[in-house]
Amino acid sequence: MNQNQKQEEIILSGKEVQQLMQCLPKATFVGSKIMKYQGFWYHDNHIQNVLAFQRHFQARDTDLIIASLPKTGTTWLKSLLFAVVNRAHYSTNHHQNPLLTNHPHELVYSLETDVYSKAFVYPHPHHLNELSSPRLLSTHLPYASLPESIKNSGCRILYITRNPLDTLVSLYYFSMKVMKKYFSMDVMKMILGMFYPTPSMEDFFEAFCEDRIPFGPFFDHVVGYWKESLEQPDKVLFLKYEELKDDPTIQLKRLAEFVGMPFTSQEESEGVIQQIIDMCSIKKMKELEVNKTGVINKLFEKKTYFRKGEVGDWTHHFTAPMVEKMKKLMEEKLEGTDLSYKLLS
Ligand code: A3P
Repeated sequence: MNQNQKQEEIILSGKEVQQLMQCLPKATFVGSKIMKYQGFWYHDNHIQNVLAFQRHFQARDTDLIIASLPKTGTTWLKSLLFAVVNRAHYSTNHHQNPLLTNHPHELVYSLETDVYSKAFVYPHPHHLNELSSPRLLSTHLPYASLPESIKNSGCRILYITRNPLDTLVSLYYFSMKVMKKYFSMDVMKMILGMFYPTPSMEDFFEAFCEDRIPFGPFFDHVVGYWKESLEQPDKVLFLKYEELKDDPTIQLKRLAEFVGMPFTSQEESEGVIQQIIDMCSIKKMKELEVNKTGVINKLFEKKTYFRKGEVGDWTHHFTAPMVEKMKKLMEEKLEGTDLSYKLLS
């Protein structure tokens, strides 16, 4: 079977996708089209990828899959996971450590946005078979929509979440950078609709509060993984961005134990944990040449994945009534879950 035939197997028929898309509820997220599939919103050009991922992905028992909503610390967790899993092969100061010469997204592939994307740039689905175990992969899909083979195999999921206010600020800056880089404002206006104004932070806030963000509703996504982590603690590890910032050593130990590679007392006394934390710090990641230029997925500049990396940046962006509204929403949506967020460092 040649490469084209293999790819055709994965691409779903355009007609099938179109038929499904016609039936899905539609809305806009700061001007771009989104569709609701299985209770969650996706950009319209993602629907096909999601379907291909759901239908074709075959998990291995050894797979380690990072799950998250966008802008909650995915890139950081990718670098930490890679460093922990590969520490026997590459010490943190070894010049051949791939984290020094690759963006974290090039080491841990995003399933629906990279692997099963229509564009079929590297990596495509067949590269998955070539990866050695444990494969490190990632997804933004909610738990309920994950392919059955992820749910039913022995593979493990590492979920990261972040307080919604900082997530929103991060999403705003990321989205604005992407829009500004690729479209002049005139073209952008044409794409968004002639009279649609440049999106503001208020627009993002409103979309969030109306449960209209890509891969959201936010709280449904989080609570779905939270419940699984309580019911299946060996299957789903639940991490919070704020706790990683507060005490990275404890969280890194949790992570290493979860993936079955706990730090030995010798490693601890040699400072291996601290070395990993330092290597994966945002300061260090930003300084690396590989993270300063170039793009991921033909669209996203590598450097836009590293901005401030702080807890509490939201204090500079929202009015008191907006913060109140978000706090109320959090209370309401998380009631009875025993889950909460720290908003300040
Ligand atoms: P800010 O925009 O608030 O700075 P994601 O990786 O899920 O897209 O999330 C991006 C957010 O994580 C950005 O937040 C980014 O700066 C932050 N981030 C990236 N790498 C980080 C690191 N090594 N340490 C802490 N935060 C990091």
